[in-house]
Amino acid sequence: MEVLVFAASPNKDGLTEECAQAAVEGAGVAGANAQIIYLNDKDIGLCQACDRGWGKCRKEHSCQVEDGFQAVHEKTGNADGYVVVTPVYFGQLSESAKAYFDRLRRCEATRGDESALAGKPVIGVAAAGGSGGGITSCLEEMSRLFSHLRCSIADMITVTQKSRSYKPAAIRQATQAMVAALGKE
Ligand SMILES: Cc1cc2nc3c(=O)[nH]c(=O)nc-3n(C[C@H](O)[C@H](O)[C@H](O)COP(=O)(O)O)c2cc1C
Repeated sequence: MEVLVFAASPNKDGLTEECAQAAVEGAGVAGANAQIIYLNDKDIGLCQACDRGWGKCRKEHSCQVEDGFQAVHEKTGNADGYVVVTPVYFGQLSESAKAYFDRLRRCEATRGDESALAGKPVIGVAAAGGSGGGITSCLEEMSRLFSHLRCSIADMITVTQKSRSYKPAAIRQATQAMVAALGKE
């Protein structure tokens, strides 16, 4: 069983990383292979809204902008479950998360129930600063994204600098439970 953990922060020593590692541990305890995809390192550019709005994404379900997107898209389709950890930036997903998931959504949401992610479980994690301002709008954005991708939401978790001492444990347990449930299907 393969779990992809998306980490969408430029920092490898921050809250996003801690949450991503917790997810990897939880997946491992439940017997899955888990891999972290560091989206900031993947050379994934913005959607170009090709051809007056829709490019190949609409009918061929692939992206015609050739860069790091294609390899991650393929990996995403082959995985059994997902954890998406994004820092909260201005109440939204980070830029690297938006860049990847905007393009993924165009390719996969256009398949409807045939999306490569359809029915697969996902945990969304919004990792914010001390204020936690905008954390709910970030979760809402993720929830809409998961719905477009036809994922099955296993959990949506918030963490701030104030809850940092106890939320990674919840992420570990949630990922473990997500994988355990997959094993029973
Ligand atoms: C550009 C930018 C915008 C941010 N906007 C918010 C915000 O809207 N709400 C919030 O609580 N924290 C905000 N933060 C703080 C980050 O969400 C927080 O520091 C997070 O833990 C960063 O993750 P990292 O430690 O993995 O880098 C922002 C940080 C940056 C760099």
